[in-house]
Amino acid sequence: MRFDILTIFPDFFGGPDLGIFGHGVVSRALRTGIATAHTHDLRAFTHDRHRTVDDRPFGGGEGMVLKPQPIFEALESLALTPKPTRDTLRAADSPVKETVILLSAQGKRFTQATARRLATLDRVVLICGRYEGVDERVSQLFCDEELSIGDYVLSGGELAAAILLDATVRLLPGVLGHADSSRYESFGEADATLNAEISENCHPSRSGGPASSGSDESSPQSPPRSTNAAAGLLDYPHYTRPAEFLGVPIPEPLGNGDHLAIRRWRRHAALAKTLANRPDLLPNADLTDDDREFLASLGYNLPT
Ligand code: ADE
Repeated sequence: MRFDILTIFPDFFGGPDLGIFGHGVVSRALRTGIATAHTHDLRAFTHDRHRTVDDRPFGGGEGMVLKPQPIFEALESLALTPKPTRDTLRAADSPVKETVILLSAQGKRFTQATARRLATLDRVVLICGRYEGVDERVSQLFCDEELSIGDYVLSGGELAAAILLDATVRLLPGVLGHADSSRYESFGEADATLNAEISENCHPSRSGGPASSGSDESSPQSPPRSTNAAAGLLDYPHYTRPAEFLGVPIPEPLGNGDHLAIRRWRRHAALAKTLANRPDLLPNADLTDDDREFLASLGYNLPT
């Protein structure tokens, strides 16, 4: 997968040592070629002595606005399956799955679902906004989408571009050690099998009897996956050795080897954490009857 980053601060992303991408799984993905990142200095596409990339806003007001011309020429240089404007620059039947994104505080919210969608593409072009904004015709003519990483204003789109790249690259096949690592984390996919197991074993009457104790991956008695929080919930809390630290022990079920009890504790802990930190997620989460009962025991009743 290829990323092209258009910026007036190419040094932000580093040189041969990969700069901000020079650590951990993203660095490994870039070094092994699973993904490539190419920065393009917008000043290289100016034609005046001062290499001017910005200008005063029409209508007056504070600050400066990024000019459309350098961005247009930078995009042209990328040969995005034709170009000038989006329609004339790109062949409708292009075999390359690509998208051009403007990063700005005015964009749609970038989420884990966006990262999953982007991870299916061949090429992502990121335009980093600066100053008070970017001439609106950039978004109108050249961009497929405008994305914001959160409800706050950064001094520019560079950090946002780095965050988007990180969140996307770690989802590419082969980047994380275990494919399931990204599936069941916060905002990951629902683990329907797992939820069914927990419900059945907590309420045998609902399914006509206790679950079997087979030894396959999805059996309640098989080892729990390393991360198994489900869609729409925050991940559960994690612990490692020592079993007691500064007088605080690990939660009892995690140490006793009862896999079903571990799964159940993790699910409940994920629910409790979501209730404490992001209750706004709960109405849209994929919840079982057992989840609802547990939340009710914490004093939270979901609207029916
Ligand atoms: N540029 C300034 N603020 C931003 C944000 N919240 N997300 C993306 N790009 C930005």
